[in-house]
Amino acid sequence: MKTPRIIVITGALGGIGLASTEVFTRDHDIVVGIDIKDKNDNLVLETQNKYGKLFSYYPADCTQEDQVKSVIESIVSDYGKIDVLFNIIGGSGRRFGDGPIHTVSLEAYHQTLNLNLTSQFLLSKYVVIQMLKQNYGNIINTGSVLGMVGGNEMFSTVTYAASKAAIIGMSRSMAMAYAKNNIRVNVISPGLIESNMTQRAQNNDEIIAYIDEKQPIYYGRHRLGNPMSIALAARFLADSEADFVTGINLPVDGGWTAQ
Ligand SMILES: NC(=O)c1ccc[n+]([C@@H]2O[C@H](COP(=O)([O-])OP(=O)(O)OC[C@H]3O[C@@H](n4cnc5c(N)ncnc54)[C@H](O)[C@@H]3O)[C@@H](O)[C@H]2O)c1
Repeated sequence: MKTPRIIVITGALGGIGLASTEVFTRDHDIVVGIDIKDKNDNLVLETQNKYGKLFSYYPADCTQEDQVKSVIESIVSDYGKIDVLFNIIGGSGRRFGDGPIHTVSLEAYHQTLNLNLTSQFLLSKYVVIQMLKQNYGNIINTGSVLGMVGGNEMFSTVTYAASKAAIIGMSRSMAMAYAKNNIRVNVISPGLIESNMTQRAQNNDEIIAYIDEKQPIYYGRHRLGNPMSIALAARFLADSEADFVTGINLPVDGGWTAQ
């Protein structure tokens, strides 16, 4: 039997995180989930129950450097290595006031960048420090189609778009900086996917009609993308046989960016 890989997933309790936990534990890898929820949260207990020894949970606010540093140190001390980081942490900045640029306060801008870019920067930084010691590793950051192309006024959140474009640039730079250390870095850029983050969209007929056109692979199904498609893309990028793939941005978007 193969030695299990240690797969660190951030935003682990979200829709994409849970689908990814399902995929990696099926392969008998150990998933170490990081999320902001308390360790006694029902979802944490249910997930631990479901996957037993293949899932462990480390709570942390991924926007706080001291918490990220300490959680990565604990994981390394408990498991001795990190094979893969799937950095999903992020979310909409609408609750802070992200939107079209003429309406966005500087505070909303900083809060949205913190949640999306600072978090993935901090996780990448502390995991790379460990991967340099191992002399191998694999990082998958999460962008968005909105970091690649615009949407209509229903998707006009300028800081979110900026953070996701920055993640693509940051990841390419990391890929080049660490290729000679045998560390691969790639990005997955999802289209609109069914998860808590998209409750607003899932309940809005106008958005669903727009999505039928933007993500035509599900045309007429009136639904968003499947989180399993993102998890399976991560499984591909994380596979040791995909060892020639680095520095790419892989859209998984039902056709959104092909138009
Ligand atoms: N769902 C989509 O349509 C879509 C599209 C493009 C990109 N994305 C990206 O996917 C990621 C979101 O994943 P999802 O769709 O599963 O959303 P989700 O809302 O279901 O999950 C996000 C998870 O992140 C956790 N979280 C929030 N703030 C945190 C913090 N400060 N520290 C630690 N954990 C925190 C939440 O508790 C939640 O479990 C984001 O990076 C988002 O930009 C999602």
